[in-house]
Order: sequence, then structure tokens, then C-alpha cells
Amino acid sequence: PFSQRLRSCNNLSLGFPRKIFSYSPESAPSPRAFPLPFAVRHRSFGSSPIHQWRSSVVLDSFVEKPARPISLRQLIFFGGRNLDERRIIDFANYVRSELPVRIAHRIRDMQKLPYVVVTNRHLSEVYELYYSAFDAFRKIPEIGTVEDNDNFCQVVKKTLKEHLTVIPSLAMGVLECRDLVPPEELDRFMNRVLRSRISRRVIAEQHLALTDTFNSPFHFPDSSPHHHSGTDFVGEVFPRCNAREVVETVGKHAQDLAREANGSLSRVPEIQIEGHLDTTFPYILSHIEYIIGELLRNSIQATVDCHSSSLELPPIKVLICHAPQHVIFRVSDRGGGVPADELADLWSFAKGPRPQARLKNFSQVPKMAATLQELQKTSHTHSRREGQDSSLSTLTSRPPHLRLGMGLPMSRVYAEYWAGSLELHSLEGYGTDVFLQISKLGNKSEQLNLDGV
Ligand code: COI
Repeated sequence: PFSQRLRSCNNLSLGFPRKIFSYSPESAPSPRAFPLPFAVRHRSFGSSPIHQWRSSVVLDSFVEKPARPISLRQLIFFGGRNLDERRIIDFANYVRSELPVRIAHRIRDMQKLPYVVVTNRHLSEVYELYYSAFDAFRKIPEIGTVEDNDNFCQVVKKTLKEHLTVIPSLAMGVLECRDLVPPEELDRFMNRVLRSRISRRVIAEQHLALTDTFNSPFHFPDSSPHHHSGTDFVGEVFPRCNAREVVETVGKHAQDLAREANGSLSRVPEIQIEGHLDTTFPYILSHIEYIIGELLRNSIQATVDCHSSSLELPPIKVLICHAPQHVIFRVSDRGGGVPADELADLWSFAKGPRPQARLKNFSQVPKMAATLQELQKTSHTHSRREGQDSSLSTLTSRPPHLRLGMGLPMSRVYAEYWAGSLELHSLEGYGTDVFLQISKLGNKSEQLNLDGV
């Protein structure tokens, strides 16, 4: 049952990865060096060989620059007690120069994809969004004043909004291409693209939040508390996430969702929390809520499915362990485990059992990589800031019964982004243990992708 809800093993015929188009920066500026969508669609550059050559030279110059990853501590430092004009402008310029570099790397990744993939309509939509964002950000001149920054923030806000369709488009694109290229290639691409997207949204949203704080009439540099609405958030970072509270809040919500999905009178397993209950660590709250939420949703559903005929549901046990460098969460359920032959596919974006029929309703696809900007309406974090108690947006933003099988791989992308890890051990026929390790000190830089660019 555990595996059913996650993914069924699909026997894919791997197709032939024909690299009709493969870009190489050294290649001569010939039209053949560009995939059709690039040449046809980027009208701002024109489609003549000379225009294409110019745009490729511009892109090359950004692809050559390495990204400069930042740590949670640095994010806190920028927005800390001394948030003033200088720091806001410094951070604005960091974001201004980082965004086009980080986007350029992913544009290049897309250009290297086999032609059949990059011409997929959903993926080429993403490509176009990225290209126009790259083009807009690279042209923004150095930010020198608060007014410049306010204008910059408008562009950032608009882009964040325009890019809300990226995750559903990627999900659809990968689905449609999964019989055309080896799943390993699609998975590598998805991991890079998703991790990089999280990273861009984190720095962009952090900057918007800090600018809000800076512009707030209640903000006085050097005063404390120094954040929104008198809470302890530094921009989007919560320096003292409480492990037990996160599990309790998210767990209650996951239970409510399971009741909603399985019928209001249906039973849900109890969630028992044990171990180092006072553990706190700096983190982006929506990230940890997303991960724990997905793990608990999986465990609850597996337990319900596996024990449908028995009176008692075995509890889900969450152990919190506070080590010198890490916080470790172990989520143990007795939901039957994962059959050995399905274990390898658990972490694949390309091989999962996406229920295609449901996916046809595009608007139902959850914004899996949601970060706060996407969650603003119902955000747990934001309403907490206002001192209210409300439901978790990462979990509520999708219909309760919708399963895409992407929760686990997506959770691992989130965990690894801040140098953590996510592992699953199946006790086949009995249950599952999942280990989430979070770096506790906030001193680890973003892990931008598998090979550091
Ligand atoms: C994204 O959401 O994919 C982005 O890259 C947003 C960023 C350009 C602000």
C-alpha cells in the first residue's frame, strides 16, 4: 500500500535519446546551433543568424559565471537588527546579479536536452519564461537608491507571479516526455531545475520580505524585535523553528486532509512525538513544513490503506533527535512498507504513477515547489506573523485526494537544498522508516545543484 500511494512501477520503454540538437558554446553561429523554439520564439533577439549569435554570446557570458550560494546565517545577517539602507541595497544588488546567472545555467541545461524534450509544449513554455526573465534581469542596472530598489522589487514580484505556472508545466512536460528519453536523464534535469528554482525564489522572496520590513513604519534600525509584525522572522527565515511544533501543526493538518479524502468519519492514525522535544533550528518554515507534511501524508495514507479491516490503527511515531550539527527526524509507520522492486523508483520524477486523468485538469496540479510567495493567500507562516492560527498552505493548496507521486522526490530536493538529506528504509510487509536530516547551525550554503553551478 505504501508504494501504491507513492508510485507504481512503470515498465518504460526507454526510447532513443537522439540528441538532434546539442549546443556547444564554441560552435559557429549557425542557425542549426539553436533548437527551433529558441530561434523562432525569441523575437526580441530576432531570428536571423546574427541575432541568434548575439544572444548566445550574451547567454554564454552569464553561463560562465558561477552562482554565489548563500547560507541561512547570511540571510539572517542581511536582514538582522541592523537592517538599513546600505544592507537593503547590497542585498538588492546581490539578488539582481544572482538571478540572471542562476537562470542562465538552467537555460543552458534546457538547451542541452534532446530536441523532443525541449520542443514539448509545456517545457518550451518554461524555457520561454526563463528566457524572458533572464533578459529582463540582466538589463537591470546597478541599484543605488531606495527608489531603484522599489522598482526592482516590482519586477521581482511580477516575475515570481508569472513563474507560478513553472511547476505544473514541468510536471506535465516530464509526464509527456517520459517515454521519449531515459528517465534518469529527466530526473537529473528535474532535480537541477527544481533546486535552482527554489534557490532563486528564496533569495527573491527574502529580498521582498526584507524590503517590506525596511519600508514598514514600525521598522527602526537597531531596534529589536526587528521583523514583521513583531515576530521573530528575519525576512522569510525563522531562526528558531521548533521541531515538535512543526510536527504537531503539520501532523494535525495532514490528519484533517486524510479525513477529508477518506470520508469525515474515517479513522486516522495517531501521531506520537518522542525524543528531544525542545529542539530548535533556523530554517525556512515553509520548506520544513512541506517536507514533514509530505512524509506524514504518506505515512497516514499507508497506515489507513494497510489496516482497512482492523479496528485499531497503529500510531505513526516521529522521533526528533538533536545532534551537534544536525536535527534528525525519523518518521516510522506500520503501513506495510514498500516492495523491494519499487524502491528504486521512489525518488524518480519521471517514473512515478502520475494519474494522468486527474492531471488533465491543469489547475489541480499543486505548486509543489511552492515557497512563500506562492502561498501568500493562506500561508501558515504569514498568518502566524499576524498572530493568527491558520491552516498550512503547502498542504491545503491541493485537493486532498490528489496524488502525483512527486511528494517524496520533491521533499528530497528541499532537504538537500539546505545541505540536508532524506532517506527511506522499507521493512517490507511491515512499515517504513524515513530519516530526514537537517543541518542545524544554518551555516551551510545552499546546495545549488548536483555539480555546484
Ligand atoms: C522561478 O520561479 O522559477 C524564478 O526563477 C523566479 C525568479 C526569477 C524571481
